[in-house]
Amino acid sequence: MHRDQVASAYGRWAPVYDMVFGPVFRRGRHAAVEAAEQIGGRVLEVGVGTGLSLPDYSRRSTVVGIDISGPMLDKARDRVARLRLRNVESLDVMDAESLSYADGSFDVVVAQYVVTAIPNPEKALSEFARVVRPGGEIILTSRLGAEHGLRGTLEKWLMPVTSKLGWRTEFPWARYERWAEMSGAVRLLERRALPPLGHFWLIRFARLGEAAETTITNTPDIRKDLR
Ligand SMILES: C[S@@+](CC[C@H](N)C(=O)[O-])C[C@H]1O[C@@H](n2cnc3c(N)ncnc32)[C@H](O)[C@@H]1O
Repeated sequence: MHRDQVASAYGRWAPVYDMVFGPVFRRGRHAAVEAAEQIGGRVLEVGVGTGLSLPDYSRRSTVVGIDISGPMLDKARDRVARLRLRNVESLDVMDAESLSYADGSFDVVVAQYVVTAIPNPEKALSEFARVVRPGGEIILTSRLGAEHGLRGTLEKWLMPVTSKLGWRTEFPWARYERWAEMSGAVRLLERRALPPLGHFWLIRFARLGEAAETTITNTPDIRKDLR
């Protein structure tokens, strides 16, 4: 998967995205925003897409949204204007792998159905850990692929097709675990299967304190070990 390939795939999805993916991911989006609201404050929503989750935030939270796809963000901007969502601070085209924000700028980082669409997920996860303050949270909804067995084989086999559509099917929990361990910057708080089918999960990491700071910037590229 390549960044430009993913951006153009979502450029093509933008006109029909809400119709196709609106209802199917609704419960996961609600669960993620509900968890984010427990902390509140300044929220970074990565891969905000067409902004389907934005109306779910209370006006006490300030939301900054980023996405790699301009056409998806245009839809989000229309929604913000139409619904007068004044707590949305900004919506910008930006790559999750290279965030322009200072360390510890946010109380929460939310990424819903995004990690498996990012070409280098571990790099993005380390960016999330960098920009969230110590004591803040990283809240993800993500599809978890099978570790092995028939489903695992099928998911690997489907990768050439789904990567053209904008996401990967093969992404086992082990990758999150290894990233968390190697970064040394986060602690797993929760991992909960989402209804109706349990293929998607709500995952919450707490950002650890100052001591972990140096480890984050030195997070090695572990992709080569995972191929
Ligand atoms: C499946 S959609 C999810 C959109 C939204 N979060 C939702 O719940 O409907 C994945 C989104 O991630 C964005 N995305 C993919 N790779 C990205 C990257 N490297 N940086 C920022 N956004 C990215 C896509 O453009 C797309 O809008």
